[in-house]
Amino acid sequence: MARFQTLDDIDVRCKRVLLRADLNVPVKDGVVSDATRIERLAPTIEALIAKGAKVIVMSHFGRPQGRPDPDYSLRPLVGPLSQAIGGRNVSFAADCVGDEAKRVVAALRPGQVCLLENLRFHKGEEENSPDFARALAELGDFYVDDAFSAAHRAHASIAALAHLLPAAAGKLMEAELAALTAALESPARPVLALVGGAKVSTKLDLLRFVISKVDVLAIGGAMANTLLFAEGTEVGRSLCERDMADNARRLFALARERNCRMILPEDAVVAARLAPGTETRTIPVDAVPGDMMILDIGPKTVARIGSALGEARTLVWNGPLGAFETPPFDRATVALARKIAELTQAGKLLSVAGGGDTVAALAMAGVTDQLSYVSTAGGAFLEWLEGRELPGVAALTAAVRTAPKGNAA
Ligand code: 3PG
Ligand code: MG
Repeated sequence: MARFQTLDDIDVRCKRVLLRADLNVPVKDGVVSDATRIERLAPTIEALIAKGAKVIVMSHFGRPQGRPDPDYSLRPLVGPLSQAIGGRNVSFAADCVGDEAKRVVAALRPGQVCLLENLRFHKGEEENSPDFARALAELGDFYVDDAFSAAHRAHASIAALAHLLPAAAGKLMEAELAALTAALESPARPVLALVGGAKVSTKLDLLRFVISKVDVLAIGGAMANTLLFAEGTEVGRSLCERDMADNARRLFALARERNCRMILPEDAVVAARLAPGTETRTIPVDAVPGDMMILDIGPKTVARIGSALGEARTLVWNGPLGAFETPPFDRATVALARKIAELTQAGKLLSVAGGGDTVAALAMAGVTDQLSYVSTAGGAFLEWLEGRELPGVAALTAAVRTAPKGNAA
C-alpha cells in the first residue's frame, strides 16, 4: 500500500486541522436520506477532538457551477454532522475562505468543530487553483484527508492543498485503502470479481484491469448480454451493445492469456417488458425469444457463481446482476449478496463491495454490515478498479516526501 501519514503521526494539540470530508450525501426535501458518509467520517472527527485539535470540516456538495447557490449550501448538514459526533456543537462559516471563514475558525477552541460552506462555490476548487488552495491553507496548521470517495477528483482541497500543509490520511481514508489493498494488491487467492451493471462500454478499463488481477471473473447485468452476443448468442430485445462485440472478444482473449476464468450467464430470467411483477420465464441463454429481454441471471448461473464463491478466498463486487430495482429481477443479486454475507460471516471469504447501485442492493438484501468492507465511494471505487492512480491518494503519498519540515511534530 502507498505510504502516507496517518493521525498517529501528527501532533495536532491546540492546532487547526483542515479536514477534507465528503459530505456529498443524498438529500431529499432538506433531509439527509442516507447518512452513511457522515457516520463513517465521525470517528476521524472524534479522534481529532480527543487529541485537542480545532477541527475545520470542509467538503463539496453537489455540482454548483463555481458560484454560491443556496440549493447546494452545506448549512443543512450542520445538524446531521453534530448528531453524528454525539450532539457536539458545530459552528458554520458561510464562506469556505476569506474573512468569514477566518472569523469562525478564530473563534474555535481546542476540541471544537466548525463546518465551512461548499468548496465548489468557488471556481478555484475544481480548477485545482494554487491561489484557492493557499486561501484554504491560511485557515489551518494541518491537513487531513478523509474523503476517499472524492479522491478521483484533482481538486484544490484534495490535490493542491495537500502540498501546502503537513498532511495525513483520516481513519476512513485509511480503512478504504486498507480494504482495497487487501482485495486487489496482496489478496488471499483465489480472488473472484463479481461485476454487473448495464454497459460494457463504461467498464472496459475496469474489466481489463480486473481480468489481469483476479482468478475468476463472474459477469451479470445487461453487460453480460453484450458478451453473450459477442460469443454468437442471440439475446432478443435485451439491452446489448452490439458495436462492442470486438472489444468483448478482446476481453475473452485477455482472460485466456491471463489465466482468468470467466463465468458468463448460462440461464436467464426473461420478460416482454421491465415492470414490477411482470410475467417472466427462466430459460437457457441460447433460447431467448426474439421479442423478450434478459432482465436477470437465472438460478443455474446463481448456483455456479455461488460455488465459485465457495472456493474463493477474496471477493471484489461492483454492479448488480439484474434489473434489481424492479422485482422480481432483484432475485439473483439478493441471493448472491446473502451467500457472500454468509461466507464472510463464516470467516471463509474477505468481501469488498462498492459503487452506488451495489451498496443499494446490499441494503435491499439486508446484509450491508455483513461484508468485510463496503466502500463509501462510487466513482473513486470504480477508478481504483481500473487501476488508476487517484489524485487524492497520490497527493497524500507525495506529501510524505515533500512535507514541510518542523511543522509536523
Ligand atoms: C461522489 O459522490 O461521487 C463524490 O462526492 C464526488 O462527487 P462528484 O462526482 O460530483 O465529483
Ligand atoms: Mg460522482
